[in-house]
Order: sequence, then C-alpha cells, then structure tokens
Amino acid sequence: MTRKLFVTTALPYANAPFHIGHMMEYIQADIWVRFQRMVGSEVHFVCADDAHGAPIMIAAEKAGQTPQAFVAGIAAGRAKYLDGFQIGFDHWHSTDAPENHELAQDIYRALRKQGLIAERTIEQFYDPVKGMFLPDRYIKGTCPKCGTPDQYGDNCENCGAVYAPTDLKNPYSTLSGATPVLKSSDHYFFQLSSQRCIDFLTEWTNTPGRLQPEVLNKIKEWFAVDEQGHVGLNDWDISRDAPYFGIEIPDAPGKYFYVWLDAPVGYLASLKNHLGKVGVDFDAFMADPAVEQIHFIGKDIVTFHTLFWPAMLHFSGRKVPNHIFVHGFLQLSGEKMSKSRGTGISPLKYLEIGMNPEWLRYYIAAKLNGRVEDLDFNPDDFLARVNSDLVGKYINIASRAAGFLTKRFGGQLSSDLGVEGRVLLDGLRAHRATIEALYEEREFGKALREVMLLADRVNEFVDQNKPWELAKKPDNAAVLHDVCSVCIEAFRLLTIYLKPVLPTLAAQVEAFLKVEPMNFADAARAIGGHTIGEYKHLMQRVDAKQLDTLLEPTVVEVPPPGGETLAAEIQVDDFAKIDLRIARIEACEAVEGSTKLLRLTLDVGEGKTRNVFSGIASAYTPADLVGKLTVMVANLAPRKMKFGISEGMVLAASHADGKADPGIYILEPWPGAKPGMRIR
Ligand code: 2FM
Ligand code: ZN
Repeated sequence: MTRKLFVTTALPYANAPFHIGHMMEYIQADIWVRFQRMVGSEVHFVCADDAHGAPIMIAAEKAGQTPQAFVAGIAAGRAKYLDGFQIGFDHWHSTDAPENHELAQDIYRALRKQGLIAERTIEQFYDPVKGMFLPDRYIKGTCPKCGTPDQYGDNCENCGAVYAPTDLKNPYSTLSGATPVLKSSDHYFFQLSSQRCIDFLTEWTNTPGRLQPEVLNKIKEWFAVDEQGHVGLNDWDISRDAPYFGIEIPDAPGKYFYVWLDAPVGYLASLKNHLGKVGVDFDAFMADPAVEQIHFIGKDIVTFHTLFWPAMLHFSGRKVPNHIFVHGFLQLSGEKMSKSRGTGISPLKYLEIGMNPEWLRYYIAAKLNGRVEDLDFNPDDFLARVNSDLVGKYINIASRAAGFLTKRFGGQLSSDLGVEGRVLLDGLRAHRATIEALYEEREFGKALREVMLLADRVNEFVDQNKPWELAKKPDNAAVLHDVCSVCIEAFRLLTIYLKPVLPTLAAQVEAFLKVEPMNFADAARAIGGHTIGEYKHLMQRVDAKQLDTLLEPTVVEVPPPGGETLAAEIQVDDFAKIDLRIARIEACEAVEGSTKLLRLTLDVGEGKTRNVFSGIASAYTPADLVGKLTVMVANLAPRKMKFGISEGMVLAASHADGKADPGIYILEPWPGAKPGMRIR
C-alpha cells in the first residue's frame, strides 16, 4: 500500500536569513523525503516562515518597516538557499497567511468548546514608554542575590541565581530604558494540567515508535510528580496583549495568540495552501487515517511539539502527529558556532565561493543518525569523506569504465557480464533492503557506509580485472566489454542508493546512462544491451583552500556606539536627584567567590570611607585603580549583597551588547578635581 506522508521541518522565524543549522535540518528531512518518494510513498513536504511574535515586531520597527513588509523581505531571500542546497519543499508559506489565521482561530474555538481554555488575570512588567507588556528577554536589572547589574530577567550570569523578572532590583526595559511597572492583564491559558490532557499525552507520547527513546525519557521527567503530588505540567499562557504582531483571539479584543500557538498551525496552513494548488481537498486529506504526519525538529523545541501541539490537535478533533523526529545541533570542530566571534559556516558563502552543495549534503548525511546527537563539522573529515569516499570510491568507478565502453563498443553495454560480474552485481542488489531500512530509520551515516563498502567491492573487481590491461590486447575485447559493463551497472546501482542524498548528481548520471529517473525498484532490473551516453566528469574534488576560505572568521559587525536605545527623557530635576561625587580609590581588592566584582574603598570627602562593590574585575586589577580618582553615585541607597553592603556605585562606560564588546571603562576626572566635589 502506498504510504501517504505529510512532512514538515520546523518553521524558521522570519527575522533573519537561514543559518547552517537550518540547512542541516532541511537536508536531513529532504533526504528522507526523497528516499520515501523513491520507494513509492506519496509525500507532501512543506514549510513556512514563522512570522509572528514580539522579536519580529520589534525588529521591523527598528528597520522602519511594517512587520508584514519586514517578513516579506526575509521570505524573498529564502529561495537562493533552498534551491542552492537542493531542498525540495513542495511549498513554502507564512504563518501570517489567511489560512493560518483561520485555522488557528478554529482550533482555539474548538479547545474553548472543550472547556480547556481558562481566563486568568496575571501581573506582568509593562514598559510605560513603549506602551507594551515586556517579554522577559527585554527586561534587565540587578541580580537580587549578588547585586551584579545588567542581568537578564530570569537568571544571573554572575552567581547563577534563578528568579522571576519581578525579583530583579532596579529593573529596566532594554527597549526604552524605562523602569517597567507591574500591570495586570487578562490572559488565556490552555489547560495542559488538566487530567484529560495528561491522560491523552501519556498515551500519545508512549505509543511505540512515535518518539525516539531519549526524547521519551526527557518527557517522562517533565511528567514526574513532585512531593506535593503536583504533576509537572503547567497550564500554558497562549495570549499576548496588543501591540503584538500575531493573530487575534476570537471574542477577545486587543488579545493575540502567543506566537508559539499559531506557529505549528502553520504546518497545516502551508499544507492547505499547497493542496489547494494541486487540487486536493485539505479536510478530506487530513481525515484520511492513512495519512502520516511527521515533523522534523531540533532538540530545543521538543516541548512545543510533543506536548502543546499534539494536545492542541487532539482536543480540537484533528489528526495528531505520527512521529516527531528530533535532531541535535551542528557544531564546528567540536565547538558551538558563534555569530559574535564570527565563527561558523555561512550557507551563502559556501555557495558563493563555488563549493558543491552536494558535498555538504553528502557530508551531513554521512554524519547523521536517528538519534538526538549533535553533529560535528570538521574540515579535515569533510575533505576526506568527499575526496576519498564520494569522488575516490564512487565517481571513480564510472570514470574508470565509461571511456572504454564508448570508444570500443559504441556505448552499448554487454548483456552477458560474466559469472564474476553477475555475482558482484547480485551482491550489490542484495544490500538494497538493508540500505532502504537504514534510510527509513534516518540512519543515513550507516546507509552511506554500506554504499561505500559496496563501492570498495566494485573497485576491487576493477583492480583485479584491470580493464586498462585488457584494452591492450584485441582478443580480450569480450572480457573488457563485460568488465566495463559490470562497472557501469554497478555504478547505476550505487547511484540509486545515493540518489536521496545527491539528487543533482543522480540526474546527471541518468542523463549519462540515458535512463529514466530511477527509483529503488530499478535496482532489481539490469540494463544489459542498453546504450549509454558519453561520460563527462561528474564531480570535482574539494580543494583544502576552499575550506579555509569558508571557515575564515568573518569580520564581526559591532553595532555603532549610538546603538543602544536612549533612555526615556528626564527633566533637570530628575538629574539633580542623582548626587555624583568625585571619589578617591583608597584601596581595592578582589572579591572571593566572584569573578566579576572588585571591592573598592572610596574617599568621598566625608571624613570616612565607603565600601562599594563594582562589576569591573574583568577590566581592571586592584593595582590599576588604587590612588586614582573616579566618579560615584553617592546618594544611592545602600544595597545588601552576598559579599557585604555596597554604599554607592562607581561610573563606568560599557557597550549594551557585552558579548560584541566586553570592554568596561571607568571614568576619571581631569586633574584638579578633589574627593567630595559634586558633579553637576
Ligand atoms: O524555534 C524556532 O525557530 C521556531 N520558529 C520554530 C517553530 S516550529 C513550528 F512550530 F512552527
Ligand atoms: Zn547574581
């Protein structure tokens, strides 16, 4: 029976071009889809831009564009990546498309009808200058535990404390600099903590074959019951207040779906739009129990796909996903790629410097398995696998045999092949089932290893029969003909086995062999007597210099000094509230247990000294500072910190993005200033 498959990859946020990690996921899914088609499955393979949410709204605003125009600009750049790496999506859509608005609202209404939507009032930080509620990532402040300034709303990079944004001291909005205020608002929640949801998810996640074992283990941890008997699933806050770029919640003016509610619905919206174009009824298709729904995703978004999404589908009366295939991340020579350090692999640069996209497809496939493991891009390994295996073992077979066939036999393959040749080819054919099973299980690395072992056998056959020697004596013509025909037939079989990974190369081989597009079933037949075309070199080797160019760190763009948003306007009276004084650094020492802080003893002309902790240890040693003058906030309320009480704050300049520029520069007055003088 023909399998009917609905396959997606995760929908990328429409706020940036693709990075190499996207390409890896798409290549993985694309190989699997091409394999499925080659064994006769009907596949609908779709994706879309994930268009909504606060970060995209804010990025659009910064770019001076409407979110719609901003997202359209990103979408316009997608094709050169997808075409470039031969990713064969049937359709690319957007979560802001009308189908998605309609489907998301329908699903919500159905969940509400099921009694699974609750309304609750919550208190959240609100930016009074921007006039919007602040997602946690836009709130920074001083760590409530150790007093380190400029920490994110959920945890402290200095002491590792975990807290809520409302626990921060001196919180500020990174959008406007304003002090956020607590404001309450009605939110809608999907009641994942309900027994019905728990029962369903327990059953869905535990269905054999649905999830990878390591994914299931993680999920079991989330479901664990704590000492109070509380099952570890919380209701999910699915609403956001205007202004928000998203889909309006029915019957709730000014409320929008949180982006993660409508994002996966985008899978359905993209499929619906695609099926509409090819004349298939979406509802009928989704009602067909034979249709299997499969999502390829990265390990960072497992909760959304294994809890929220299946529950949304199930309780709105829809088909649930059959499989979630989770992959790990792509690393570079064992390290995380870093945009700020300029390390990484730019997919566009790869194409622009003329590297063959099928080398990358082959390399990634060779490293992939069906587990949730990170995958390492190693340039030496890349060079070896492409040059020695792909070109050296596989391509070489054709180049060793094709010339004799065209020159001596008019390109016609012999039908006999000889006993030894037939045994070799039967051996190659016998591996088809294993290779198919490995592709099916996404064990692409193992599949390619099988193929390369088969290529080794063929090369041994060539080495033993030495066509170049046979060609020297005319009475060996029949043997030469058989040997070369065996090679070409073997090459054809190996090409079938590699075709999911190397679609363009396979098409070139089909043209060279003058055969119709090949499927796995074509491995069963033989093409003896058939006349092939002229061999043209099929694939170059990688040049190590290309890899050097590819991996050269790119110059990091440091945002301009004015890059940080200006704080809200103040009046001169506001400024007068801050008492800035010249201080002499009498003593300075490292703080045990902190890599960031220095303890300063300051003379501010009061006849006594003050103790101040300052997060400048990354930039200065005590010896740099002792005896110097600087500027401090002298009327700041004393703060109790892990290491003692801080009686003020010294002033220092730093970049908003401490990762792009970690420098910290303490202020020093011109000569003549004395401790205790006020700065006005
Ligand atoms: O993590 C991400 O990049 C999300 N944009 C993935 C969304 S997947 C699906 F739910 F749309
Ligand atoms: Zn801290």
